[in-house]
Amino acid sequence: MALYSEKVMDHFRNPRNVGILEDADGVGEVGNPVCGDIMKIYLKIADDTITDVKFETFGCGSAIASSSMATEMIKGKPLSEALALTNKAVTQALDGLPPHKLHCSVLAEEAIKKAVKDYYDRNGISYDHSQFPDCEHCEHCHA
Ligand code: FES
Repeated sequence: MALYSEKVMDHFRNPRNVGILEDADGVGEVGNPVCGDIMKIYLKIADDTITDVKFETFGCGSAIASSSMATEMIKGKPLSEALALTNKAVTQALDGLPPHKLHCSVLAEEAIKKAVKDYYDRNGISYDHSQFPDCEHCEHCHA
């Protein structure tokens, strides 16, 4: 069996939503201290809905494919759905990742959460802080 699914290879070779949104309403950047990879997500938000999303990922192929898939999954969706997106859902949508690459998909989940939090902070919108654990210190980053 190939190490990577066709979907992973497709999103790695032709990533969707790559780039920067200069006038983003929320930006989230996370890094994995172990591998040094960095992912940045830009969101445009209107009426609690993600109207546009772009990403920049300086990282491995799995991280790029995860960012691409994750941005596709939240585009046009309400913020509540974006916040509920798990790395597991991203991995499933990619038809799986090798076990030692699962942590790469965590960056996508966390960067999206951080971008939504940034939007809330910029606009003085109150939120449940437990929804946004301090990602730099979670177990995934040390996996
Ligand atoms: Fe660092 Fe994939 S190896 S994110």
